[in-house]
Amino acid sequence: MNTMRNSSSRPAALAILMVCVANIAAAAPPSAATLERGRYLMDGVVACANCHMARGPRGEYLADKGMSGGMPFDDKMFKAYAPNVTQDRETGVGKWTDAQLVKAIREGVRPDGSLIGPPMPVEFYRHLSDDDVNAIVAVLRTEPAVRNAVPKSTFNFPMPPSWGPPVKKVKAPSRAHKVKYGEYLSTIGHCMECHTQRDQKGMLVTASLGSGGRSFPGPWGDSVSRNLTPHESGLKGWTDAQISKAVRGGVDRNGQPYKPPMAFQHYKNIDDADMAALTAYLRSLPPRPFGK
Ligand code: HEC
Ligand code: HEC
Repeated sequence: MNTMRNSSSRPAALAILMVCVANIAAAAPPSAATLERGRYLMDGVVACANCHMARGPRGEYLADKGMSGGMPFDDKMFKAYAPNVTQDRETGVGKWTDAQLVKAIREGVRPDGSLIGPPMPVEFYRHLSDDDVNAIVAVLRTEPAVRNAVPKSTFNFPMPPSWGPPVKKVKAPSRAHKVKYGEYLSTIGHCMECHTQRDQKGMLVTASLGSGGRSFPGPWGDSVSRNLTPHESGLKGWTDAQISKAVRGGVDRNGQPYKPPMAFQHYKNIDDADMAALTAYLRSLPPRPFGK
């Protein structure tokens, strides 16, 4: 203590100055580049709106209601509803801090400590880089507040205590490593969530990664996810242009449109470099028979 009193006041002044700078930094609005990155991800491969956007009776987006939720998900294991993630303070997430939003997205934990259930793809969003998750939260903050109370989800299985250990620092792989960056995009786009089998307990069967065969019933009838591995029953023999047309154009090799729930209306915004990285990653998967 004595040393403190005896020392010059410069370190203390410096400390105060640093606190001020930190506060200014925290209050500063996100940069244009951050918002642009967040919008690119959300309008593209990450596609939060595919689940959180309010929809009309035919599944059409209700643009004026934004991401105020309500979409039901019927499954053997749950009856879930996409919550309102607009800035409304009562029925949305307007009261949550940025850190709380990041924790909800990457760890599936709400500010009250409760766990967010499926189909929110938390196990994939764990891998969102710090920069990307912060960019997404910055965009969520720009969502106009829309009042819309959504029913509570019910789950027919015991929720685990957590979806994994707390997420610390996450860095995205370099774009220079095309396959690795493609894997990152496929993860944050949770492509494998739909294109991989699950076991009885609802866990992804990693040995069948990308082989498809999951059924998605809906107002469109049924659609079955395809095999994305380079197998005869998958993407072997497809050109890059055909894969791009499937993902970004939503049409197969004969020009026939695919059915939902894949987020084609968002994926059309994936840029050429990212599409090339995604394709390189899919081509790097071990070939697996359909659904195996
Ligand atoms: C596949 C559909 C799906 C996608 C994609 C999705 N979510 Fe969710 N999300 C849900 C569902 C369903 C819940 C609620 C689960 C429950 O009730 O436990 C949820 C919960 C949340 C919550 C907690 C809100 C609350 O009030 O409890 C937040 C925040 C959230 N999502 C944000 C996002 C963001 C941001 C993205 C994109 C990065 C995203 N979600 C992508 C389906 C999805
Ligand atoms: C919400 C579930 C879901 C997600 C997420 C999803 N897909 Fe799909 N995908 C499907 C379904 C279902 C089909 C088949 C649709 C049909 O038959 O009409 C499909 C079809 C495809 C096809 C066509 C393949 C063929 O053989 O015809 C490709 C390629 C594809 N998906 C790649 C991707 C990629 C890459 C991503 C991530 C960026 C992705 N998917 C995310 C469900 C999903």
